[in-house]
Amino acid sequence: MSKSIFTKDGTAQGVAKQRLIETLARPDKRVINDPYADKFVIGASFMKLMGHKLNVWLAQKFAPGFHEHLISRTRFIDDLIKKSAASGAEQYVILGAGYDSRAHRLELPSSLRIFEVDQPEVLDRKRSKLPKELPNSENVTYVTVDFTHQSLTEQLMAAGFDQSKSTVITFEGVSQYITKEAVSSTIKELATLTQNSSSILFISYVDELLDKDPEACFGKGYPKAAKRAKLIKNLSAKVGEPWISFYSAEEIGSVLSKNDFSIKENVTLEDLNSVYFTPVGRTLPENQIFKLEHFVIAKS
Ligand SMILES: C[S@@+](CC[C@H](N)C(=O)[O-])C[C@H]1O[C@@H](n2cnc3c(N)ncnc32)[C@H](O)[C@@H]1O
Repeated sequence: MSKSIFTKDGTAQGVAKQRLIETLARPDKRVINDPYADKFVIGASFMKLMGHKLNVWLAQKFAPGFHEHLISRTRFIDDLIKKSAASGAEQYVILGAGYDSRAHRLELPSSLRIFEVDQPEVLDRKRSKLPKELPNSENVTYVTVDFTHQSLTEQLMAAGFDQSKSTVITFEGVSQYITKEAVSSTIKELATLTQNSSSILFISYVDELLDKDPEACFGKGYPKAAKRAKLIKNLSAKVGEPWISFYSAEEIGSVLSKNDFSIKENVTLEDLNSVYFTPVGRTLPENQIFKLEHFVIAKS
């Protein structure tokens, strides 16, 4: 495998790793199930030997709540996609898809066309790692785009995107890696692409307080909040994908409203803890709550 691939998929692998860890939990204890995550994670066999509890313990040592935060994000979007598909969404655009496998693991209706958008190297590696026979693969189209200098519109239209169809879009775990200009222009393009149909947009963003007031990005009593905030940022930078863009709720609201999207929900693990972890007996205490990234659902 060439070095250039590794420098582009470090964070996509990182998220897949947390999905693999969660998948190792007992079925009655887990919040999501991703049977494809192991294909993308280096050292997956060893992690499987370690099992769910030990892997979560290690993640807790790095940053309490880090694992649960990413899993709550995955589950929150899983629920949104299942609900949207059941309510008749006809297209699903996954921006910065990385190693997302919702298309294959969620049992979505065959009428839903799915567009997975990412950099060519990441999509190539994804294709090479996934099994040849996959549920629902006939409904999935890979679309290569670099948000910083390519037109999403051109690439999506060339891939068969239909502007008259109702669409759900997810922009998960990407806004922190690209410039604010790239985020704004992407949302502007999405607004134009979907202006003649209904659309739902999920976007996650990192709170601008991360640098200014790190304690505010975690639950009360979170251990060494400022040090942990730095560690998390450094982890991404180390794999060649530094966090460069941070937002307040007002700023993200303004980017969305300028493009006729209005926010319906803005949540963090703090809100989702009781929804997803309490029912499986894994409620996180306040001092392990991680709320530096927000999950937003907006409608046009
Ligand atoms: C943290 S990963 C998230 C992947 C996936 N959404 C998930 O949550 O599992 C960020 C993704 O954004 C993609 N990405 C980052 N910068 C990009 C750019 N300029 N253009 C296209 N994709 C980009 C990366 O290749 C990577 O797959």
